[in-house]
Amino acid sequence: MLTEKRTTTEDWRLGFQSLETEIGDGVELAVEGTLPSDLEGTLFRVGPARHDVYGERYPHWFDGDGMVHALRLSGGRAEYRNRFVATDKKREEDTAGRRLYGAFGARPAGGPLARLRHVLPKSAANTNVVFHGGKLLALWEAGRPWRVDPVTLETIGEDDMSGTMGSRQAISAHPKLDRATGEMWNFGVDYGPSTHVSLYRTTAEGVTTREAKLRIDFGAMIHDFALTPTRAVLIVAPIGLPRIPLGLMTGQKSYGDSLRWMPSRGTAVVTYDRRTGEVRRYDADAFMMFHTVNAFDDGDDVVVDLCAYGDAGVMRFFTEVMAGRGYRLPAPPRPSRLTLRPDGTVSRSQLSETILEFPRVAGRSLCQDHRRIYGVSQAEDDFFLSTPVAVDPESGKTWSAPMERGQYAGEVVPVTKTGATSDDEVWLLTLVLDAPAGRSELRVLDGEGLEAGPVATIPLPHVVPFGFHGNWVRSSQLPS
Ligand SMILES: [Fe+2]
Repeated sequence: MLTEKRTTTEDWRLGFQSLETEIGDGVELAVEGTLPSDLEGTLFRVGPARHDVYGERYPHWFDGDGMVHALRLSGGRAEYRNRFVATDKKREEDTAGRRLYGAFGARPAGGPLARLRHVLPKSAANTNVVFHGGKLLALWEAGRPWRVDPVTLETIGEDDMSGTMGSRQAISAHPKLDRATGEMWNFGVDYGPSTHVSLYRTTAEGVTTREAKLRIDFGAMIHDFALTPTRAVLIVAPIGLPRIPLGLMTGQKSYGDSLRWMPSRGTAVVTYDRRTGEVRRYDADAFMMFHTVNAFDDGDDVVVDLCAYGDAGVMRFFTEVMAGRGYRLPAPPRPSRLTLRPDGTVSRSQLSETILEFPRVAGRSLCQDHRRIYGVSQAEDDFFLSTPVAVDPESGKTWSAPMERGQYAGEVVPVTKTGATSDDEVWLLTLVLDAPAGRSELRVLDGEGLEAGPVATIPLPHVVPFGFHGNWVRSSQLPS
């Protein structure tokens, strides 16, 4: 009997269901096609996997407890495991058998006193997973990182970044690697009577120092930043907390519900000179942003590519998808270029008509001029996560991977091919939800022939909820 494939728009809802199953011992997976011989390493991915805590569904995509997935590729074979990050938050809630803490879009649980008790945020460790200085860290932007064993995925504990971070300090989920120095830079937003952004530098050996503490003039939400060989760049979109966020402080409102879009402020760009410590501010028209693409120095100019939204409507959209209602982004993001000039002016231009989120560039071009932007696009009438694409920032030309209806791709992770001399000599690794087939799979695409479809596909043992970010780590960097 033929089974009719489900190809309704509702299929994407599979990607917002909880996954509770942990496969702690690696299982070998079948490979369809042929894995490239130079893919020797592990793809780590993280995302919210527990959207329902003991019967209570979170309202926002950013809320759920983080689960790390590891796909180890070696000798043409694939091994998979996945575990939740055993954060304090998850352990306490598992012990209590109910939700306790607030999250991005959820206020703390219970009555007024219980909410007050749990008003300080606790990391869900669900946003990015990064290996640097010998440590695998699961990151979240409102707290300290959680360290995870890169082989077993067992949680080691919270990490204080060489003692630079107190228990209530935050560090973002978007550190940037400077390949020339091997340094990893990151920032953290600390709210209080005044809001400060700290800049952190971690050496290749894993030693962190706090380089600067910059005051910003309101309680901005800042998800990502940019790095060039000479500067760290903060893009401060006009979205943030009111001066006294009473509802948030008393547990009556969530962080997300406390945020306000204030376009009359414009979007500020703040640069920190890595050599001199000089801080400069540039004022641009208001736009909203989650992710930068990459940044570089162009003579005396600083160039920052990013995915720009016209407004903050996207925040509401992420509650719509969790409720099973949202489908298409109201004002989708497009790759754009900021040019900061020595005279203090800034210009913004759109690089392509292509809708693009989760932007990445080839590792060889980090902090340098890049020739390709990789990301996930949205077809005209499709769900916001749909198609892996490559964009030429110079011409705006776009190449798309073939996708069938009901197939949804997450972030595309570029892995530089052995001996690569150009930005398209990469393997592109993306987790795809094939909703009609009821499965998730890793697809390996060729950056030199994206449109030909995957060179290898690896079906996973379960549907992986839509995640956020991940990274490829070569076998030679990992313990055996
Ligand atoms: Fe992000």
